[in-house]
Amino acid sequence: MLQVNLSSSSARVEPFAESLAQAHTWLQEATGRGSDFVGWVNLPRDYDKAEYARIQAAARKIQSDSKALVVIGIGGSYLGARAVIELLESNNYNLRKKNTPNIYFAGNGLSGDAMQEIFDLIGDDDFSVNVISKSGTTTEPAVAFRFFKARLEEKYGKAGAAERIYATTDKARGALKSLANAEGYDSYVVPDNVGGRFSVLTAVGLLPIAVAGIDLDELMRGAADMMETCRRPGLESNPAWQYAAARNDLYGQGKKVEILAAYEPRARFFAEWWKQLYGESEGKEGKGLLPASVEFTADLHSMGQYIQQGERTMIETVIRFGKSASHLCVPHDDADGDGLNFLAGKDMDFIATQAMDGTLLAHVEGGVPNLIIHAGEINAYTCGELIYFFEYACGLSGYLLGVNPFDQPGVEAYKKNMFALLGKPGYEDMGAALRAKLGR
Ligand code: PA5
Repeated sequence: MLQVNLSSSSARVEPFAESLAQAHTWLQEATGRGSDFVGWVNLPRDYDKAEYARIQAAARKIQSDSKALVVIGIGGSYLGARAVIELLESNNYNLRKKNTPNIYFAGNGLSGDAMQEIFDLIGDDDFSVNVISKSGTTTEPAVAFRFFKARLEEKYGKAGAAERIYATTDKARGALKSLANAEGYDSYVVPDNVGGRFSVLTAVGLLPIAVAGIDLDELMRGAADMMETCRRPGLESNPAWQYAAARNDLYGQGKKVEILAAYEPRARFFAEWWKQLYGESEGKEGKGLLPASVEFTADLHSMGQYIQQGERTMIETVIRFGKSASHLCVPHDDADGDGLNFLAGKDMDFIATQAMDGTLLAHVEGGVPNLIIHAGEINAYTCGELIYFFEYACGLSGYLLGVNPFDQPGVEAYKKNMFALLGKPGYEDMGAALRAKLGR
């Protein structure tokens, strides 16, 4: 079972007991700010079972008729799926010999080269597309979908393409839903009351995750068990309460940045998902810890200097996973030129644990409070636990901070400017003003 250890930090959590109880009630009873978007709270129990079965059937079809799946989406519409696939399969998933399709993530930026590279990597292989957009109007995925839809139609004809397009979007509204209805695409729902960054356990994340061959039942079981744990009020028993209180206390003590660290390369995208979850939920009204991430030990050789001795405004949250699946022991070397024979026969997990402990002591000594999350061995169950734990703690934490954790008004600013500069109808005056500012 996931556990939080605060003993390497100066965080005082007890003063938050009352406000945590209030925040907990707001989440459980959907009575706080942004309460229209707390559908994720009971999702691991109340998810749509019929759709869940359809997702698994669609995944089997894609596995049988496609060598590649292109997942088109941005932000909350792709980070969760990528996080889970990389954590549970590998960050080298596409390079592996396997019976499941390669998975390419598109529409999460505007790089023509990145898109062309996916076309080249797919080549003549059979492929399918899962286009994911709650609003159905987000520019990046909508542009990418045009390209991949055209390619599918060229390769398989309009009707054949329609059988390879899976649309995950609003249940009734939006441009993508209308297109899916008109063209007969298989479609899946982003529930009204679940925002993008909380949507990994809906069809948004589950369809790509299932295509990668991951055991959805175990993922949901882990999330459901953590949901039960998080429903219990109390600082003693609820790890989400502990984490939310600790990070708010440290923020109150003047810390400005929270770095999420893991000693696993395959956790890199999990950290990207976490960054969106916390950054978009808390970074508003001039408040919030800046979420950043590092991959250890690699980044100890790049960011380690700053963490140890840079500006003392940082806290570190370390996810500690349990034993690896592999058992690699350091070989003996007769010449011992590197002087490492003292490690001969030692397991890589043992060496990594000493590195973790040594780093923990050094960073705490250097003035960086550490919050440790013991997450168990990496598998679908513990991944489900970890997802729900971070989501619940995020909801609590945002309420402790005094913001609405479920909106993202600041995301619109760049979009409006981009539309104006692109010449979108209706934005003409704004476009002229912006071009003048840019001296064009
Ligand atoms: O968390 C969010 O709400 C955002 O990251 C969205 O998921 C992202 O902007 C994509 O939006 P949409 O799914 O409407 O295309």
